[in-house]
Amino acid sequence: MMNNLTRLLDIALPIVQAPMFGVTTPAMVAAAANTGALGSLAIADLSAQKSIEQIRATRQLTAKPFAVNLFVHTIPPITATLREQYTQTKSHIEHLAAKNGLTVKLPELDAIQVTPYQDQIDAIISEQCRIVSFTFGIPDAESIQQLKANNTILIGTCTSVAEAIALEEQGIDIICVQGIEAGGHRGSFIGLPQIGGFSLLPQVYDTVKTPLIYAGGIYNKKSMQAALALGAQAVSIGSLLIASKESALLPFEKERLSTVKEEEVVLTRSFSGRFARGIHNTFIQALEGSDYILPYPYQNKLTGELRRIARAHQDSEFVNIWLGQSIQSFSSASTAEIINQLTK
Ligand SMILES: Cc1cc2nc3c(=O)[nH]c(=O)nc-3n(C[C@H](O)[C@H](O)[C@H](O)COP(=O)(O)O)c2cc1C
Repeated sequence: MMNNLTRLLDIALPIVQAPMFGVTTPAMVAAAANTGALGSLAIADLSAQKSIEQIRATRQLTAKPFAVNLFVHTIPPITATLREQYTQTKSHIEHLAAKNGLTVKLPELDAIQVTPYQDQIDAIISEQCRIVSFTFGIPDAESIQQLKANNTILIGTCTSVAEAIALEEQGIDIICVQGIEAGGHRGSFIGLPQIGGFSLLPQVYDTVKTPLIYAGGIYNKKSMQAALALGAQAVSIGSLLIASKESALLPFEKERLSTVKEEEVVLTRSFSGRFARGIHNTFIQALEGSDYILPYPYQNKLTGELRRIARAHQDSEFVNIWLGQSIQSFSSASTAEIINQLTK
């Protein structure tokens, strides 16, 4: 079970609890860490203050190392065109929600708060976090230098060989290879690659020297062993944990998982402006391919209030339920039990 990567991360198992913003809780991260896996605290684009609160809440529950995971995305400037598009999209989505029985007032563009990832990096350094993972890009050179000066281990996400090379060139310590199967957001930052994990992982392994984690479709011991045989030194498990005891999903969302069919698991830009994999529903049906999708993070911020209200109404047609292609029984057991099951 031990290898260079587990030793580098000071973990006992070649397993990473995947960062899953909206699903991961401090309790899940701590449970994974206490079991000997690498827990990953997803802070997406939370404010620096909220990021610190989450880090401290996790530290209350574990003394083990865990990764803090952030969205490294360049924020597009607000132009006159974006303002116009925002107004139209806001109105379109409000009408769509009203037609479907949900009264929502979405935020004005000037009211939304967007956190540059550099603010979070300052917070992470001040909290002395040892491991930082990221998706959607590569931190700028200054941020990398700052993190490395603080002895931080960096884990980047790639969805193609080109992205793996780019991460290695910037001195990223570990690369997480994300196959097209994976649930949640695609980590892509060079074009829109859509490569299956079994094609991508061995190619990345043959191309770079950086140690690899594999993410996408791992749902039992056999799939874990397959990824390890293809060159990964650890696997990252996401969907396997979404219905776990420590997951932040609400009961109606967990219930929806139990009836999902394979044709319902789709890639969509409609909730956030970036491609993510989840369960098809009325909202995706209405928006996908339409003009009412703003670039990330604006779409994400715009739809946040809709999702909040839909959740309060237990309306699975207007929330994003992310999951990967490996449909399974979605165990409600504890994170520790699910991880231990993989190693038996
Ligand atoms: C609900 C959900 C939320 C996710 N959020 C994040 C995130 O915040 N950061 C990230 O790097 N990856 C995120 N991902 C991707 C996972 O880290 C991981 O790549 C993926 O779950 C692996 O595929 P699997 O779901 O088939 O196990 C998310 C995935 C899911 C299912």
